[in-house]
Amino acid sequence: MLYSLARPLLFALDPERAHDIALTGLHMAARLGIARGFAGSKVNTPTTVMGLAFPNPVGLAAGLDKNAEHIDSLSQLGFGFLEVGTVTPRPQPGNPPKRLFRIATARALINRMGFNNCGVEQFVSNVRAARYKGVLGINIGKNFDTPIERALDDYRYCLRAVYEYASYVTINISSPNTQNLRSLQEGPALDQLLAGLARERKDLSEKRGRRVPIALKIAPDLDRADVDFAAQCACRNEMDAIIATNTTVARPGIEDLRDADQAGGLSGAPLRERATTIVGWLSESLAGQLPIIAVGGIMNAVDAVEKVSAGASLIQLYTGLIYRGPRLVSECAQALHTYLSEHR
Ligand SMILES: Cc1cc2nc3c(=O)[nH]c(=O)nc-3n(C[C@H](O)[C@H](O)[C@H](O)COP(=O)(O)O)c2cc1C
Repeated sequence: MLYSLARPLLFALDPERAHDIALTGLHMAARLGIARGFAGSKVNTPTTVMGLAFPNPVGLAAGLDKNAEHIDSLSQLGFGFLEVGTVTPRPQPGNPPKRLFRIATARALINRMGFNNCGVEQFVSNVRAARYKGVLGINIGKNFDTPIERALDDYRYCLRAVYEYASYVTINISSPNTQNLRSLQEGPALDQLLAGLARERKDLSEKRGRRVPIALKIAPDLDRADVDFAAQCACRNEMDAIIATNTTVARPGIEDLRDADQAGGLSGAPLRERATTIVGWLSESLAGQLPIIAVGGIMNAVDAVEKVSAGASLIQLYTGLIYRGPRLVSECAQALHTYLSEHR
């Protein structure tokens, strides 16, 4: 209700500015103790995935809170978990604006943010300042100017820095907005990266006495063979989950709309079908060896159930929140509660 009043005002603004204002508004509402009023009723559907206990299977996708500055206020919206980042070792400004575009008639966004973030040192101090005690995923990436052959160094650096504070860590090699990043998803490059991270995690878990699960986030633009390869590679390198999917470089069904030709990754309704196809492929390829976290174009309860019936254990939301507001969280959680009580 509140969001349906705010949305026309937010949509009249530049999308990145609207994003900042919405998060500042949520922050203020949380401080006044009224943020829960934005959310629907809290849904309790305890789910264990990656050895972690989730109060419900609906999470916040990476990229909305890149600097982990809004953890406490976002935690008021009824999510079962939050994923923050992508964070890189050093701060970087990202691409020059304008870099976020709304394609409202298609309920979509195109972004080429380019991992704008405050760097892992400040990020960790933001996480430390949060009071949230729920499941926190931390999504890590590489700096744009780190040569792709040195990518493992950046991921290891971030893994070490966030290890103590993360419920799980996501390896993001699927953003289309960092040059060559997606080449890490294929062939020996993926094996080497994941093997290096598995070694680092083994070392960290021995030293810190806790094994933190690692999820691999993949692109929707992979073909079937690439998806099978990524799935098997994740299994043999002891990863704990696959997140499918990031944004797409394709423009399914929106080619003629204004701004559809902007460079960047497309998210929202036009991504839904492709993301679900990838979840289905992963489900066949993994055959239960690893859980799948589905993200991409979930705009309502039916879309949430579609992802879980395709094989996902958890879901994440981003663009749907922009179009539907925080009530989408409880709508999806409620639908999955009903679906899972009938199908578990
Ligand atoms: C503006 C914007 C920024 C994003 N930034 C990140 C990011 O930093 N890291 C990441 O893994 N995914 C990022 N994503 C991708 C989302 O996490 C999600 O995978 C994708 O948008 C598909 O889900 P959706 O259709 O629900 O938005 C971003 C998406 C958007 C729209």
